[in-house]
Amino acid sequence: MEIDIQLLPSPPDSDTLIDRTVVVIDVLRATSVIVQAISQGALEILPSASAEEAFQMAKVFPQDSILLGGERESEKVPGFDLGNSPKEYVAERIRGKKLILATTNGTKAFHLVSSGKEILVGSFFNIGAAARRCLESDRDLLIFPSGDEGDFSLEDTICGGMLIELITRKGKKSISLTDASYSAQILYQGFKDNLLRAFQLSHHGKELIIRGFEDDLLYCARIDMTDIVPEFKAGVIRVQ
Ligand code: MLT
Repeated sequence: MEIDIQLLPSPPDSDTLIDRTVVVIDVLRATSVIVQAISQGALEILPSASAEEAFQMAKVFPQDSILLGGERESEKVPGFDLGNSPKEYVAERIRGKKLILATTNGTKAFHLVSSGKEILVGSFFNIGAAARRCLESDRDLLIFPSGDEGDFSLEDTICGGMLIELITRKGKKSISLTDASYSAQILYQGFKDNLLRAFQLSHHGKELIIRGFEDDLLYCARIDMTDIVPEFKAGVIRVQ
């Protein structure tokens, strides 16, 4: 099994993904929201490329079955039901609903890797379960941090590094790492005792603090809150 991580969120060559498991990560905050929403009883999530597309997609569903969530410049989009703070996604709000989610980086990332054999949702909330799932699948793995508007993202790469650490620690068979994977693992080891510090240093973490979402940094640093590993298939994220 080879583990690679894409340090910049440019679209990977789709042919290379056909036999791979892909794990999409956007710790601050899209994949944290997705894992939280599904664990709180959302039926399924449709990741959308833009708020405008999300409004269009919503038209085909009965109004009381659907919620719109996500952000533009980290703030709730006018007309949406929910923003992009995982704390908003509680059972009372989302149980039994379909959610259309539109965010700046995270929801777009799923469409960039849609040719993957299986496409999983990763965050610190489900990191242990995601590592177990990758080991069970036993395919070559591409970790895909969704990045920061095309740039490297510290917090996503550290989360990818933790996934690599868990897989290599638990895996019995031989696992080979690319240079990028070694780098992410070392980055994780440097911050593993203080993930919050890494979030505070990161570009997007700083933006969230300025915009009043500092609490989300602490919330998104919680590890192993759930065993669910949602999967993106045919445009929809759910537990398969
Ligand atoms: C994203 O997808 O870029 C993020 O989730 C943005 C955010 O939550 O502020």
